Amino acid sequence: MAHIIVFGNEKGGSGKSTAAMHTAVALLRLGYKVGSIDLDARQGTFTRYLKKRFDFITSTRDHLPSPTHMAIPRSEADTVVDQRAEEQEFLTLALQELGASHHFIIIDTPGTDSFLSRLAHSHADTLITPMNDSFIDLDLLADIDPDTFTIKGPSIYTKMVQDQRNQRKLRDGGTIDWIVMRNRLASLNARNKQDVGKVLKSLAEPFGFRIAPGFHERVIFKELFLKGLTLLDLKESKEHPLTLSQLTARQEVRKLVVELGPEKIKGHVRPPG
Ligand SMILES: Nc1ncnc2c1ncn2[C@@H]1O[C@H](COP(=O)(O)OP(=O)(O)O)[C@@H](O)[C@H]1O
Ligand SMILES: [Mg+2]
Repeated sequence: MAHIIVFGNEKGGSGKSTAAMHTAVALLRLGYKVGSIDLDARQGTFTRYLKKRFDFITSTRDHLPSPTHMAIPRSEADTVVDQRAEEQEFLTLALQELGASHHFIIIDTPGTDSFLSRLAHSHADTLITPMNDSFIDLDLLADIDPDTFTIKGPSIYTKMVQDQRNQRKLRDGGTIDWIVMRNRLASLNARNKQDVGKVLKSLAEPFGFRIAPGFHERVIFKELFLKGLTLLDLKESKEHPLTLSQLTARQEVRKLVVELGPEKIKGHVRPPG
């Protein structure tokens, strides 16, 4: 069975779809077979990102590795019970189908709580939570005293992850490796950045997550989305050498993937070609 990586955070705009797409392409470029599932059908960012990629491939005839993709919409059945049954069936089918022929499955989830999103969390082998580098985002993980920065307890998202960890344990005895990654980091070493870093560090052990080095704030992420490309697709040429900013950004993505330890998970797979 494939190793399942879920991107989740009950907040829109934290970088789930961007990080999901970059992780998928990074693993593909390492030679792994990757499937992907978009559970945020309403926004459909991951699906649209890939659609733009296919348009780019069609127009340039460039070979760009792409995941086998599925999008699962929210059920429109008449009752909540039927909706849940249908959503559970769709997700199970998608995981079986992709799981049999891929090393990794990347699941992108919506920025709101839903049955489907919780269910996906309970299937995660690795859960990656990107968060904007601010106390507003930190608030979804922990209830923090604003004056002293003491932790009063877990917040809604952390409680949900704890619930899904229990669900996972009950279902197959498995565990979820939870990684929190800071996104849109400011390039200046501002006070706020240091404070968020300190508080996040203090949460890691009690809440049971690891902290991955994150991505800095870079306009290029928006430009790449429009073309369906990732930092890992940028080609260097004599006429167009990569900028220092592009190189460091790409390095940040690679560091996140190293943090996953793909070779430990699925053994060494020889890159294609
Ligand atoms: N590190 C970053 N620097 C600049 N823009 C970013 C960064 N990460 C994400 N973005 C942009 O922020 C917006 C929201 O990101 P997205 O991945 O769609 O978040 P989510 O899926 O959590 O809602 C997008 O326009 C994306 O291009
Ligand atoms: Mg998204």
